Amino acid sequence: MIKIENISKSYVKGKKSVDNLSLEIKDGEIFGFLGPNGAGKSTTLKMITGILNPDSGGNIWVDGKSILTEPLEAKKRFGFVPDNPDMFLKLRGIEYLNFLADIYELSSADRKNRIEELTKKFEIYDVLQNQMQSYSHGMRQKIVICGVLLNNPQNWLLDEPMTGLDPKSSFDLKEMMRVHAKEGKSVLFSTHVLEVAEKLCDRIGIINKGKLIFVGSYTEMKEKFKENASLEELFLELTDEDK
Ligand SMILES: Nc1ncnc2c1ncn2[C@@H]1O[C@H](COP(=O)(O)OP(=O)(O)OP(=O)(O)O)[C@@H](O)[C@H]1O
Ligand SMILES: [Mg+2]
Repeated sequence: MIKIENISKSYVKGKKSVDNLSLEIKDGEIFGFLGPNGAGKSTTLKMITGILNPDSGGNIWVDGKSILTEPLEAKKRFGFVPDNPDMFLKLRGIEYLNFLADIYELSSADRKNRIEELTKKFEIYDVLQNQMQSYSHGMRQKIVICGVLLNNPQNWLLDEPMTGLDPKSSFDLKEMMRVHAKEGKSVLFSTHVLEVAEKLCDRIGIINKGKLIFVGSYTEMKEKFKENASLEELFLELTDEDK
């Protein structure tokens, strides 16, 4: 469970990139975060993970542990896939995964099984001996996802995780999200793919210029706005500058 209460962030004085945002992601829920470029999705995710500090006031809890006052406890309870998978590129894939397994303190038997299971699923098992700089964008994305899932974290936070994935990997990841949620755990992810949000998410949140302008199910959004509009039309209407 993730709870955000009255969180704001200004990178530049006087301009709020996230503006007094409150939100709760329940256990067992897949929550999709939508909004135009620059709306504040990544900034929000980075504040939940403690990568960025919010402006003063407000708080963020992960399974009841505050990222501001109990960061280590909070960090044990989520896995985060950032929007850019270009990191540790000098490492071989296997070195990167073992490095993460060390941090998670996984036993050698556990890590071997888990690495094999995940990387075979995402079809990168055969390239684990290669340096990550030789990987394509999609392969980098996949290894970062595998790394995050090694420890089977309670809460998944994913910033545009489907970007660059081929259809099979994207399908597999969505299935994994469903299984994870069915186990009573939570998934929060950002996306620009409206269809994914519609088909996969229990609830969606739409953020525009740092403000949360809608939270609810897809059906609720349709009820609230135009009866017969497509999701794309609804989205454009909601985030229209002149409204
Ligand atoms: N490091 C930074 N310094 C200054 N401004 C920043 C920084 N990072 C983000 N911003 C600004 O904060 C706002 C929100 O950016 P953010 O990256 O959170 O948007 P986003 O919703 O993730 O967009 P996208 O869909 O393009 O990924 C934007 O106006 C952006 O210019
Ligand atoms: Mg972003």
